[in-house]
Amino acid sequence: MAWQRPDGRQPDELRPVRFERHFTRYAAGSVLAHSGNTCVLCTVTVQPGVPKFLEGSGQGWLTAEYRMLPAATLQRQPREFMKLSGRTQEIQRLIGRSLRAALDMKVLGERTLTIDADVLQADAGTRTASITGGFVALSDAIDTLLQSGELTSSPIRHQIAAVSVGLLDGEPFLDLDYTEDAAATTDFNVVLNDELGLIELQGTAEEGSFTRAQLDRMLDVAEKGIKTLMQLQRQALQQPHS
Ligand code: CDP
Repeated sequence: MAWQRPDGRQPDELRPVRFERHFTRYAAGSVLAHSGNTCVLCTVTVQPGVPKFLEGSGQGWLTAEYRMLPAATLQRQPREFMKLSGRTQEIQRLIGRSLRAALDMKVLGERTLTIDADVLQADAGTRTASITGGFVALSDAIDTLLQSGELTSSPIRHQIAAVSVGLLDGEPFLDLDYTEDAAATTDFNVVLNDELGLIELQGTAEEGSFTRAQLDRMLDVAEKGIKTLMQLQRQALQQPHS
């Protein structure tokens, strides 16, 4: 029998997405990104200087940190555990690499942007919500630098968004929630730019293996979802801030 989605969505339908911009006050960019019941606070802060390996190069840098808050999941998880886990490190490096692909580092100049992705509530897809919401926060941070005169032109070269897709009963489903994520035989996270260029692909066969044909079908579904996410990012960024 074919997989029935717990919330009745179509196989290629996203969960409801919302970006609450200017969510906190002090960061240059701050967005609360909602994707169904997953909710991530994405902030971007700016510091002068770059890591040692880039000093004197004229190029900027972007790095990311990711954490789940202790009560983000059904069972409380200790802060110290979240800090050290391999999953945390894997995800924050993915977020950093993905959002670096948005920027021309020469135009950014020798300053460092830090993306902080803090998961308030986890219902799967937290890394993809961090990237998609992180891009909106990054755009706001760059606007802040342009408005203050710190930058005279925008270093943003590409829009970036990410989505999860998985195989359930052999079929691709977009943007899995936790129940689906736990039942999926394959888990796939896709990061694309606005030319639909592939930035990152993370696919794991949780059970058995998946075929090349299934991979192509998952990518098709992911691409469709990311096109919608990019429209939603643009819509959010067009809203004036009072
Ligand atoms: O969140 P994302 O799908 O990017 O990452 P995952 O490692 O595939 O985890 C999927 C989901 O499992 C998370 O979003 C959480 O809902 C849940 N999870 C959890 O409850 N506790 C963990 N330590 C890790 C994941």
